[in-house]
Amino acid sequence: MLVLGIETSCDETAAAVVSDKREILADLVRSQIDAHAPFGGIVPELAARAHLDHLDSLIRAALEQSGVGLSDLDGIAATAGPGLVGGLIVGVMTAKAIAASRGLPFIAVNHLEGHALSPRLVSDIEFPYLVLLVSGGHCQLLVAEAVGRYKRLGTTIDDAVGEAFDKAAKMLGLAYPGGPEIERAASRGDAAAYALPRPLLGADGCHFSFSGLKTALRRLITKFPQPLDQRTVGDIAASFQASVGDVLVDRTRHAMEIVRARYPEARDLVVAGGVAANAYLRGRLESLCAGMDFRLVAPPQKLCTDNAAMIAWAGIERLRLGLADTLEAPARPRWPLDPKAPPAAGAGVKA
Ligand code: KG4
Ligand code: ZN
Repeated sequence: MLVLGIETSCDETAAAVVSDKREILADLVRSQIDAHAPFGGIVPELAARAHLDHLDSLIRAALEQSGVGLSDLDGIAATAGPGLVGGLIVGVMTAKAIAASRGLPFIAVNHLEGHALSPRLVSDIEFPYLVLLVSGGHCQLLVAEAVGRYKRLGTTIDDAVGEAFDKAAKMLGLAYPGGPEIERAASRGDAAAYALPRPLLGADGCHFSFSGLKTALRRLITKFPQPLDQRTVGDIAASFQASVGDVLVDRTRHAMEIVRARYPEARDLVVAGGVAANAYLRGRLESLCAGMDFRLVAPPQKLCTDNAAMIAWAGIERLRLGLADTLEAPARPRWPLDPKAPPAAGAGVKA
C-alpha cells in the first residue's frame, strides 16, 4: 500500500510518499521560516499563500523521487486540522482534487494523530502508550489507545511550550524560531542564576501553563541595562529552560502515575513535536523514564518536527482499518483528538 501525504497546517509545506511496509520513499519539507522570521512569528496570510505557491511542485518532486506515479497510489492523506485555516484549505483541496480525479480514497488526517502515530512508522510500539506532544502550537499529554482513539490527560491552559521558547527568545533578542537559540544560549549559562516560576508544578491533573513564566521573564529582563550582555542572556536562557524542564517532568510524572493505574500494560513514553529536539529536555525525560520504569521513544528529529511522512503514515493506519473520508470532510482549524476531554480553562485555550 502506498499513500501520498500532504501537510500544510502551519508554516511547513510538506509532501511525502510512504508504504505500509514502513518505507519512506520521499519526505520533502519546505520551511517558510525565512518568510516569517522578520515578524518574529507566523503570519497566517503569508503562510497560506506560500503553501499555494509551493505545494504542487513539492508533490511532483515527492512522486518523482519515489519513482511512483499517481496511478500507483492507494490513497491521498492530508492534514485537515487543527491548524491555520488558509493552509489547511490549500492542502485538503489539493488532496481531494487528486483523489477525485484518480478515484482514490481521501483521508482527512488530524495533525495531532500524525504526531501521535509517528513512532509506529519507525519502531515496534504497541498501544496503549503515553504521548507528550510539545510543539509550537501544542502542549499535550495523551494516551494513544488505538488508531482514532485517544484520551487527553492534559493540555496547556495558555501558551504552547514551543511558543514559550519563541517568545522568550524574542525577549532576549535571539532569532526565530527561538527553541534552538535558547538551547544554544543556555548551554553556556548557569541554570541556577535566576529563580523563575514553575507554573502548575505539583498541581492536580496534567495541565500545563506557561504564561506566568513568560511574564516573570519579561519582568526579570527589564531589570537589566539593555541590550543584555551575552553572559546574562545565557544565564536567563538556562534558568528558563530549567524551569520548563521541571514543569514537563512534573506533569509527565503525574500522567505516568495515571497511566500505570489505568493501563497497567503501557510502558512507553513517546515524545514528539519540535521541542522534542531539545537535548536538555530529552535528558530530563530520560531520567524520569528511568525512575518510573518507562521507555522513552523519541522519533528521529525529522519525524518530530512537522512533516508529511507522519501524515501519510496516519493515512495508512486509517486506511488499513477502512477509515477513509468522503470529499465532504471539512478543514477543521480546531479539532481535538479526544472530543470528550473538557476544554481547559484559561485565556487562549488550545483544545
Ligand atoms: O513541531 P514543530 O516543528 O511545529 C509546530 O509547532 O507544529 O515545532 C516548532 C517549535 C518552535 O516553537 C520551536 O521554537 C520549537 O519547536 N523548537 C525547540 C527546539 N527546536 C525547535 N524548542 C526547544 N528546543 C529546541 N531545540
Ligand atoms: Zn506539529
